[in-house]
Amino acid sequence: MFSDRSYCGELTASDSGRDVSVSGWVDRKRDLGGIIFLEIRDVSGVIQAVFDSSVSAVNAETADSVRSEYVIQVKGRVRKRSDDTINPNITTGDIEIVADSINILNRSMVPPFSIDSRDNINEEVRLKYRFLDLRRDDMKEAMIMRHKAMQVTRNFLSARRFIEIETPILNKSTPEGARDFLVPSRLNRGEFYALPQSPQLFKQILMVSGFDRYFQIVKCFRDEDLRNDRQPEFTQIDMELSFITPGMIMETIEELIKVIVKEITGKEIDYSFPVITYDEAMSKYGKDAPDTRFGLEIRECSDIFANSTFNVFSSALSTGGVVRGFAVEDGGKLSRKMTDDYSEYVKKFGAKGFPMVKFNDGKFEGGISKFITDDEKSMVIERFGLKNPAVVFFSVDKEKIVNATLAGMRLKVAGDLDMIDNDKLNFLWATDFPLLEYHEEDKRYYAVHHPFTAPLPDQAGMLDNLTPENAVKMKAQAYDIVLNGVEIGGGSIRIADPELQSKIFKTIGMSDEEAKMKFSFLLDALQYGAPPHGGLALGLDRIMMLLLKRNSIREVIAFPKTQKGQCLMSDAPSPVVDDQLSELSIRVVKK
Ligand code: AMO
Repeated sequence: MFSDRSYCGELTASDSGRDVSVSGWVDRKRDLGGIIFLEIRDVSGVIQAVFDSSVSAVNAETADSVRSEYVIQVKGRVRKRSDDTINPNITTGDIEIVADSINILNRSMVPPFSIDSRDNINEEVRLKYRFLDLRRDDMKEAMIMRHKAMQVTRNFLSARRFIEIETPILNKSTPEGARDFLVPSRLNRGEFYALPQSPQLFKQILMVSGFDRYFQIVKCFRDEDLRNDRQPEFTQIDMELSFITPGMIMETIEELIKVIVKEITGKEIDYSFPVITYDEAMSKYGKDAPDTRFGLEIRECSDIFANSTFNVFSSALSTGGVVRGFAVEDGGKLSRKMTDDYSEYVKKFGAKGFPMVKFNDGKFEGGISKFITDDEKSMVIERFGLKNPAVVFFSVDKEKIVNATLAGMRLKVAGDLDMIDNDKLNFLWATDFPLLEYHEEDKRYYAVHHPFTAPLPDQAGMLDNLTPENAVKMKAQAYDIVLNGVEIGGGSIRIADPELQSKIFKTIGMSDEEAKMKFSFLLDALQYGAPPHGGLALGLDRIMMLLLKRNSIREVIAFPKTQKGQCLMSDAPSPVVDDQLSELSIRVVKK
């Protein structure tokens, strides 16, 4: 199909005796006194070519003149290597090309780092020279695997009657949740488009239009603070379906995920994803996206210490706080230094300390053991099921801080004690999320998922007499999918009734005018025969990061941004010339 070029990494011993032509980059050069060995690399791998000066002095001279990353074409005959020269480190290590000709197609400067995945290269340098970084094996693998994941997704969904429809990138700004990226309009001066945070409204509109199964592999944009699993632009596998139940959506997604996992890791996921309610996840793991690859489950202890005379416990409990904790078996591995360091470490979760006790031979010792009565001790033993030597850690504060502390420290302790099996893929569904969250600071409700999410069918009436206390009882028909403690997707059944939708807008503090200004097209569409519908979006970057065991989504994105939202290669964002600004009637106020 592509002339007679062979891919370097795809030649095998069965090609022995065949005349081939390969093109690629010089990976490595060795000179063994008159015999030059070049390893040539292309997207598929590397192959060694041999130039013998006694056969062709000219070819050997040319081969000797090339440097790393020169682009060359080599023609020659494939032959098996002798047993003592086999290179087990490359897939083509048992063969080589006896070169007949070499053609230098282009030269290269000396690269700032060697194109070797085993080297630990500063990330900033990698991002600045991403064109070179993408030549490295692990980046190549990430790009090819990402392509495969998208390919199997398209095949899977197309076979199930999903239609891929593109939705606009230049949209109306309707911020709810994250900040929008704004794009000024030249034709409508003083007005702005927003880049989509997700195609949420358009996919719902498509349901009203009758496309009963939609999907799109789509870029989304959010101007948020960045982390290792967050980029300002990222990719969703976005879906929406009509005439379905949450169970049907979850079943479809589960099947799709299993296909993706098989394609990327070769592993069969042979269990159906456990379902955990939001409340259970919070109480057992302190967060709604729990990592269940290890134990360290959290237990409520407020009741145990209700009459405690230990000031730290009693003052927190008397001011509406809670005491919870988890136990680590075989605490012998936890050194004094580690537990001391934890008391500092927890400060990043807003906690003031991380009290602990050691359990050994039926007795408590160290830490806060002298502040715990015998009765309390026996209840702690029972609550945590203590038998073997263990350390029990407690967190004492307002519930929010306790949850954050214990969720964070579960991970920290499990990591420190090597309790996390990195080969495990623990998927789960989190369901029954609260519909609304009340924020004391601005005295208003926020939608927990998004304001288009339907409440449980029999709870809509509660909106008429809402108080912050009963609001927490209102559950959404929403579901998140979690892998190894990372939220990889989320979705919900939507509100198809325009009146209920208006009521939700009002509940989250949006006046009728504001709702009309922002969402009139949705409210209009819902009045023209909206089918019951719902959907979900998967974060493709996060899925790839976890399946390829990378520690950041930057490792699975061809051209990612830094934590400061910059592209170090192209230098975006950058100032623009005054003419561009004046065309848009924009003046920059420098701080
Ligand atoms: P949500 O906001 O939960 O839902 O996003 C869905 C999934 O997208 C991924 N994700 C991100 N990945 C990388 N960087 C980011 N900044 C980022 N933000 C989100 C996560 C997340 O689970 N419209 C709804 C979906 C729906 O209701 O159908 C939505 O966007 O993996």
